[in-house]
Amino acid sequence: MYIERMAIEGFRNFMMLETGFDKGINVITGGNAQGKTNLLEAIYFLSCARSFRVRGDKDLINFDCNFARIEADVSALRRDTNIEVRMHRERRRQIFFNGVRQASAAEMPERLGVVLFSPDDLEIIRGGPAARRRFMDQAISQLRPKYANALSEYGRIYEHKTRILRDWREKPSLLETLDDFSLRMAKISSELIYYRSSWCERLDEEASAMHAEISGVNEKLKLSYKTVSTVDDPRGMKPSELFPLILRHQESHRQAEIDSGLCLTGAHKDDIEVEIGGNSAKTFASQGQVRTAALSMKLAEREISSTDRGDTPVLLLDDVLSELDERRQDFVLNRIGGGQVFITCCEDKSCMQRMGDRLFYMKNGEITCNL
Ligand SMILES: Nc1ncnc2c1ncn2[C@@H]1O[C@H](COP(=O)(O)OP(=O)(O)OP(=O)(O)O)[C@@H](O)[C@H]1O
Ligand SMILES: [Mg+2]
Repeated sequence: MYIERMAIEGFRNFMMLETGFDKGINVITGGNAQGKTNLLEAIYFLSCARSFRVRGDKDLINFDCNFARIEADVSALRRDTNIEVRMHRERRRQIFFNGVRQASAAEMPERLGVVLFSPDDLEIIRGGPAARRRFMDQAISQLRPKYANALSEYGRIYEHKTRILRDWREKPSLLETLDDFSLRMAKISSELIYYRSSWCERLDEEASAMHAEISGVNEKLKLSYKTVSTVDDPRGMKPSELFPLILRHQESHRQAEIDSGLCLTGAHKDDIEVEIGGNSAKTFASQGQVRTAALSMKLAEREISSTDRGDTPVLLLDDVLSELDERRQDFVLNRIGGGQVFITCCEDKSCMQRMGDRLFYMKNGEITCNL
């Protein structure tokens, strides 16, 4: 799928912007603080009505405006859609497909799929397990609405159980419902683990191939999905087979949960172990290696999504080339084709001459195209 044309009004530092894009690689260049990342943020917003930088809409509306609008013509194999989002300071935002108001943002990822790589994504390698779970959750949610539902149900039960464990000393009768919540958590955990395990298996395959290509053959990237210790190898297991194992883990931690007041068992503690050349990437990887690994994981996400949807999502690469040596930069630029790509880079980057189907120049919220 690709964005043919886009119009932005009153969003971030754009007052009024309208432009067409190439189906292939669009390079957005310009100095610092001119609006390059803002443009990627606007595109991302059309795919899920969320920003990857802030919560809520208020910061997204231009300082001097009360209203913002992002609108694009998206061409996709299944169906073309004109997507429009209107944001107001005092009112709820509105979403339209082909002029028809939508009740929620739920269908947006289906109309415009995106995979984003931003400097914050280096946290997938450097950060704690929560960053890797977020990566996995947003990627699988885009592909499987059932997963997204299970995840939000899990979140609600988790919060409830946490409250029971935290407050039972003041109100001991709360403990009567503990086992019921634990059981429900185990049930949903088995579904989440089922989806995560098969997605991670594919991610490992795709990302290690990508990483080998970008870095050279000596650096092997290995991704392994880790869940509760009673599930040794979840690959190929159905939720019904996982459930008793999760329950066993839960039962053996029951007393420890009551004593500590914390939820100690379930899918909310999952992780993806990332190794480069047999060593933990979090501890040993260099800056360039971290970036290469994170990028390989994102490109792998696009690959999986592309296979599952039968249409390639739009790839947004913010500041991806810094810290990579020229050889790695070349490999990245060779590997990102195959769908529509938006890639930002600063003016001085030599990459501008080496790549791209269309080159845009961003200055103070205005975009010009240098064909
Ligand atoms: N709500 C807003 N209204 C007006 N301007 C805004 C708003 N939010 C952000 N900006 C401005 O947008 C600019 C930043 O844009 P952006 O993050 O896209 O820069 P960039 O071109 O990606 O720069 P860099 O190369 O440093 O990453 C800043 O000057 C900031 O003040
Ligand atoms: Mg930027």
